[in-house]
Amino acid sequence: MSEVSTARFEVTVAESEAEHAALGAEIVARAIDAAVRARGSARVALSGGSTPGPVYRRLAQMALPLDRIDWFWVDERAGDPSSPRSNFRAARADLGLDRADAAARVHRMEAEDPDLAAAAARYEALLRRTFGVASAVAFDVMTLGIGDDGHTASLFPATGATAIDDRLVAAIGAQPAKGLEARLTLTAPVLCEARTVLFLARGAGKQRPIASAWSEGPEDEVPARVLLRAQGRVVWLVDRDAYPTG
Ligand code: 6PG
Repeated sequence: MSEVSTARFEVTVAESEAEHAALGAEIVARAIDAAVRARGSARVALSGGSTPGPVYRRLAQMALPLDRIDWFWVDERAGDPSSPRSNFRAARADLGLDRADAAARVHRMEAEDPDLAAAAARYEALLRRTFGVASAVAFDVMTLGIGDDGHTASLFPATGATAIDDRLVAAIGAQPAKGLEARLTLTAPVLCEARTVLFLARGAGKQRPIASAWSEGPEDEVPARVLLRAQGRVVWLVDRDAYPTG
């Protein structure tokens, strides 16, 4: 492992997939522990995609205070929660959240609703009830990924999604040309309020988007740039292949 600093972010480079998983799990577990000590409970927001799986499976092996943790999702793909495309399904299985002591605190996005705008409004209402109507929706820890096109959460390039600032949760239309189904997503203001953001990336395909996400420029071109306005701690946990060298 090596640690590097950019002007705004902490960057940790893992030397193997196992180290990436172990370091990621440790960062999430520590943030959970700090939140439980400070406020009695922890609120976690989970991303989907393929990279977090090993981190979540490692986390599931740790002694977490499951009766004190509320689990939310950063984004969800339109469809049934039993679908192999479901971010809820993947994270719940990886984290072992079907256990009785965790199940009551698992809050999935209802992306099976054909009216995704209504599902987004329900999730927003849930967040408001959980965090307090007048309070910031500040997750204790949030995992994020970055796509080869620079997207994060379900904020995709050239869609205007990064500019949505009047909602906590948005419905994002399908992009059939790119093979993407419609989505529900937390919006940029919520991403930026998290106390700890953990970006997880592995593989050479991420080098270019990460370099772009670390440099100023139009957010609509590289949505992961929205985290340049994050208020909390942002950690990029990458492997050697994903680390931008140029
Ligand atoms: C999703 C995500 C998405 C993901 C990136 C990176 O539902 O797909 O939440 O934003 O984090 O696409 O995905 P990988 O980890 O598969 O590279």
